[in-house]
Amino acid sequence: MSTNDKANEDSAESTDQQTIESSAEIIDTEQDDSAVGPIILFFIFGLVASLVVGWVVFPQLLYSQKQQPIDFNHALHNEEVDEGCESCHFFRDDGSYSGVPKLAQCVGCHEEVLGDSEAERIFVEEYVAKNREVPWLIYSRQPDCVFFSHAAHVKLAGMECVTCHGPIGESESLKTYEENRISGYSRDIWGRNIAGIKRNTWDRMKMDDCAECHREKNANQGSVQTLKGGCFVCHK
Ligand code: HEC
Ligand code: HEC
Ligand code: HEC
Ligand code: HEC
Ligand code: HEC
Repeated sequence: MSTNDKANEDSAESTDQQTIESSAEIIDTEQDDSAVGPIILFFIFGLVASLVVGWVVFPQLLYSQKQQPIDFNHALHNEEVDEGCESCHFFRDDGSYSGVPKLAQCVGCHEEVLGDSEAERIFVEEYVAKNREVPWLIYSRQPDCVFFSHAAHVKLAGMECVTCHGPIGESESLKTYEENRISGYSRDIWGRNIAGIKRNTWDRMKMDDCAECHREKNANQGSVQTLKGGCFVCHK
């Protein structure tokens, strides 16, 4: 709209200079307007084209897509286990986090094929029978220089998994893993939205996102240091 108005103004100005006091002024302006039409169309087309490149083509070039080795159904398994998430994701006695479960935690139930799904057949034949760990791709994986402790967040601060991971724990199927071709980071770190807009707390987990929450919590607790000199809270 505003671009349109601006263009009209410009053309009106130049017409004024050419045909002062002329009664043909109105007609002139109309003729100029009809020349402005295609220019505006051209401009809009260019704008749309560059938006498409920026929002659709660029992200597709920037991220390579990788499939998980096999699909995993969280919703189904939550029904089958006794202790919910902790049956597979638990704290060891020393406070460290078990992370993604090892094959040993699956074989109790999957020694033999239980159902007739393709995913389970591949799992049992390719991994359980050959005693090979499944090379899961970790969506939330941070670079090596970052120190992160689940105990501080889940045990001390009592935070929910969904705050940082989103609803993966309730999902029936694994989403495609997207890897940034330049940094090698997972898209879950660098954000779903190319413009950096964040709708959910789990949309992105860059340095600023960790720090943002630490700053908020700091106001109440004073336990987390993110100011100057506080780099070594999160960096090894
Ligand atoms: C039967 C075992 C099992 C149970 C129970 C289970 N998970 Fe998982 N979880 C897995 C496996 C296997 C993976 C690796 C595959 C994947 O990425 O989903 C995983 C991955 C995850 C991840 C992805 C980590 C990442 O960044 O890649 C999250 C988050 C997660 N689980 C949360 C939960 C939550 C929350 C619950 C409880 C509601 C739960 N899980 C229950 C086995 C389990
Ligand atoms: C408490 C028992 C139990 C444990 C522990 C368990 N599973 Fe399962 N799993 C099941 C059952 C039951 C099914 C459903 C089989 C069917 O009827 O298709 C299943 C199905 C599956 C399937 C097929 C899913 C689909 O989409 O149909 C895969 C793959 C799988 N499990 C992998 C794993 C992995 C990997 C682990 C270890 C992290 C694991 N399971 C641990 C009981 C278990
Ligand atoms: C404050 C944010 C936060 C919360 C809350 C949180 N996580 Fe994580 N989680 C992370 C980050 C960050 C990583 C990556 C750590 C790394 O790469 O060193 C991670 C990694 C993981 C992994 C993969 C670890 C691996 O190396 O195999 C699993 C599985 C996981 N989280 C499950 C959970 C579950 C289940 C809960 C709830 C009990 C939970 N997380 C709560 C931020 C969080
Ligand atoms: C949604 C809020 C939230 C997010 C997101 C978050 N944290 Fe935290 N973090 C906390 C809180 C609260 C504590 C304090 C726990 C306590 O000591 O009671 C904490 C503590 C820590 C500590 C221990 C600090 C100390 O003083 O011992 C480290 C290290 C840390 N966070 C790293 C990270 C990293 C790295 C990320 C991002 C990948 C992250 N956190 C994301 C809330 C958050
Ligand atoms: C609250 C936790 C936290 C604090 C405090 C923190 N960082 Fe980070 N930093 C991260 C996380 C998470 C990443 C990885 C994600 C990213 O690149 O944003 C990171 C990435 C970086 C990187 C890029 C490294 C790479 O391989 O991509 C640099 C450089 C860095 N931090 C420097 C600093 C400096 C300097 C400070 C102190 C002023 C600091 N950080 C404090 C969490 C933190």
